[in-house]
Amino acid sequence: MKRARGRVNRGEKKRSEKRRRRDAGREGGDGARGGDGTRGVRAAADGGGEGRNGDDAGDGDGLSTSYLASLDEGIKRVVKANRKRAREAQTLLKRALKVKDVKFFNRMLKDFGNEKQFGFAKETFERISRAGLAPNVYSYTNYLNAATRVGETTVMREIWKSMCDSGVEPNEVAYTVLVKGESQDGNIDRARSVVREMISVGVEPNQRTYATLLRNCVRYGDVDGATKCLETMRERDYAPDATACEYFIKTLCGELMVQRTLAFVRDATRDGVEITAQSHVAIATAASLIMPDNDVAVNACRDARAILEMDLANAEKNATGSRYADDEYDAQNDGTSTDAPSKSVQLFLRLRSQETNREIDAVEAYINDVPLSRRLEIADIASKGVESSPQVKIIADDEDIEPSIVDDVDDVRVEVCSGHGDWITRRAKQNPNVRWIGIEMRRNRVALTWMKSLRLGVEGNVRLVCGMAHDALSARVTPPASVSELYVNYPDPPEWVGSSQVLVDAAFLRDVHRVLKPGGHLICVTDDPAYAVRMCRELRKARTLFAPAAADGKPFESGVPEDYGASYFDSMWTLGNQRDRYCMRYVKREE
Ligand SMILES: C[S@@+](CC[C@H](N)C(=O)[O-])C[C@H]1O[C@@H](n2cnc3c(N)ncnc32)[C@H](O)[C@@H]1O
Repeated sequence: MKRARGRVNRGEKKRSEKRRRRDAGREGGDGARGGDGTRGVRAAADGGGEGRNGDDAGDGDGLSTSYLASLDEGIKRVVKANRKRAREAQTLLKRALKVKDVKFFNRMLKDFGNEKQFGFAKETFERISRAGLAPNVYSYTNYLNAATRVGETTVMREIWKSMCDSGVEPNEVAYTVLVKGESQDGNIDRARSVVREMISVGVEPNQRTYATLLRNCVRYGDVDGATKCLETMRERDYAPDATACEYFIKTLCGELMVQRTLAFVRDATRDGVEITAQSHVAIATAASLIMPDNDVAVNACRDARAILEMDLANAEKNATGSRYADDEYDAQNDGTSTDAPSKSVQLFLRLRSQETNREIDAVEAYINDVPLSRRLEIADIASKGVESSPQVKIIADDEDIEPSIVDDVDDVRVEVCSGHGDWITRRAKQNPNVRWIGIEMRRNRVALTWMKSLRLGVEGNVRLVCGMAHDALSARVTPPASVSELYVNYPDPPEWVGSSQVLVDAAFLRDVHRVLKPGGHLICVTDDPAYAVRMCRELRKARTLFAPAAADGKPFESGVPEDYGASYFDSMWTLGNQRDRYCMRYVKREE
């Protein structure tokens, strides 16, 4: 089994990015909202609200929220909605003090957490003791969940410590949230030790605990971690269910371990596990690349289609089941809420099925349309694995990075946050003379993009960097003045008002300015009006480095150019009927 040599420890990277930003003098957003919550509420209302619409209130440089809102209906709508939401949150917070029932606070904590309103969740938690009450295990768990959902791992650990110090005993849900927080940050070993601790103190992990761990093994390509997780499950007499098997299969297939996957599937089927359509598709993708005789891939496509049809027939049952809703298993009820699936779960299920169909089509097209001689060539490249590919550079924690991902190609274009790789591989197909470089921190997404590049025959002009954007754009990796265009498509928007995990900030813009050629362009696209506001403001602050490319100097365009191309997330938002798009094209200024 191949150990992921250069696996990125996202947790450590994120922490070092945070330190870097703090050092660079950026406002650090620690979530402190002021004793009565008013600062948070005001910031939320002015800057686009809590949750994924978070933003700073101040403009300082002449780009006020109201000016930007006057340019676009979507921005106006969101600013208004957030002001309303902030007022409602404030009213609830006041009411909670009078109700004096910890269940009321717990419910608020759960809701704020699930809506990624960490600032309000923090405020709610603090008010429990101000109301003369003691937080119980549900309060701590929901608060933990709120921190975890916005990626605040350090805060999550502090909450955990304070729960243990105050003598509240964590239950399996609290532990599962901790497993999620650690593993989503790439600390798979740490998450596994949480599972071991659970077992040692007599709190039995459940399917969701294991599924949480396995899901993150997929993201970080951690075959070893996933294998050990399954071993623990068996030791504890837990038969892996369809979801656990799917995660394991995806982890193996991400590393193109098809034979091992097939053996696993045989055993799981014998044990009565239903193999999901998505598992079959993962097998089809991997097998089509390394097994040019096709049988395995053809069968896997056929099985996937059959299951999708069945799933469609049972759509309602699927939507209300919890099988795929692990992301929603974050907060804890104490008898105060129902189990109705959230809109985001339903959207996720629809997207999942659409994506699965699309991938089946792509695999079938590859098998049917690409000549055998070419497929044999690809099988030879693919069988060496993603890590050995000269196309892929994995930025490791513990290694010196070899310089230059650019070589001496004239027209180099970079996509930061390249995700599943749909956009960059299609662009590479359209522009074969351009060198396209995708930067993405999740290893499984890098592997998927690599596979797509092989399938589309663009491996010659696509390079991939697995790592954090800041490292990938550093002088060690990307030479100065080497890139003609740098794209940021649908970056993860800030999760909450005080979030320090914002990609497009002053430090990022300095990196981009350094790597762009004279006259080079930075293009940012988002569906999130509040993040658009925030990016426009950052760009405005960096006006000695960048100028809007639009002749009228407008800071952004509503919508994207017709031929811009679609990405995975673009399709997801479109499917969810979320059609706001903001495009910022800026040109590098010489300092
Ligand atoms: C919302 S997705 C968009 C992906 C793709 N551009 C699309 O439109 O489908 C954001 C992606 O950025 C990646 N990402 C977020 N922060 C990053 C960072 N600092 N460095 C590298 N990748 C990052 C995430 O893993 C995720 O795949």
